[in-house]
Amino acid sequence: MKPLQMKENDTGGFLFTFCGLDGSGKTTMIRLLREKLAQSHRVVLTKQPTEAVRKSQIFRTYMDCPDHSAFEYRSLSLLAASDRLQHASRVIEPCLGQRAVVLSDRYFYSCLANLRARGYKGDRWIYEIAHHIVRPDICFFFDVPVETAVSRVRARPEEKDRYIDIDLQHKLRREYIDICRANGGVLISTLLPAQECLRIMENEVRKVMYHECI
Ligand SMILES: Nc1ncnc2c1ncn2[C@@H]1O[C@H](COP(=O)(O)OP(=O)(O)OP(=O)(O)O)[C@@H](O)[C@H]1O
Ligand SMILES: [Mg+2]
Repeated sequence: MKPLQMKENDTGGFLFTFCGLDGSGKTTMIRLLREKLAQSHRVVLTKQPTEAVRKSQIFRTYMDCPDHSAFEYRSLSLLAASDRLQHASRVIEPCLGQRAVVLSDRYFYSCLANLRARGYKGDRWIYEIAHHIVRPDICFFFDVPVETAVSRVRARPEEKDRYIDIDLQHKLRREYIDICRANGGVLISTLLPAQECLRIMENEVRKVMYHECI
């Protein structure tokens, strides 16, 4: 896979993004990293896609129902890509401009992973849109076997019966790993204890923020 050509972050702020399967540990690890960073920096937590997309009929149909044949997947993908472009340029970039450390729960890579996992590997437009989206200073990818991720999701009382397309999760896992490798991401197994994952993340953050080599 070719790496995404993204807009360089030439602000004084830092953008760290977190992607991976549902249940892979994004929210947990963001919370832990935030606690550390907030001791010395202004930290902004944000999330993609935004509520506007999450509430849309097409998004809900794809997330909640086994039969989403009424909708063409590319139209959801374009909607999500548009939302991410808007969010990156109008929410994330202004925060970076104020020298904040922005932690984004999911990012453009999730859009790409979903498009590719659903079989649209030849679509070039997704790569073109990436030119207009700011490149993270670090993109973290969390990885666990699909069975582990699903059981973590199912352990949430409100999601114990949630519809999950298991076959798609396997494809997504492979795509996330490929996207991470192609784009210089940091792949972390969250089979490791959370504190160990946090230590790995802190080392990466120190390298980028303070040019420390550990
Ligand atoms: N090393 C680890 N890192 C993160 N989470 C872990 C780890 N080990 C165990 N867990 C557990 O796995 C679960 C991960 O859930 P979390 O909500 O963080 O995932 P998520 O990726 O944000 O999911 P979603 O995409 O559905 O929001 C939590 O219950 C957490 O306690
Ligand atoms: Mg989460």
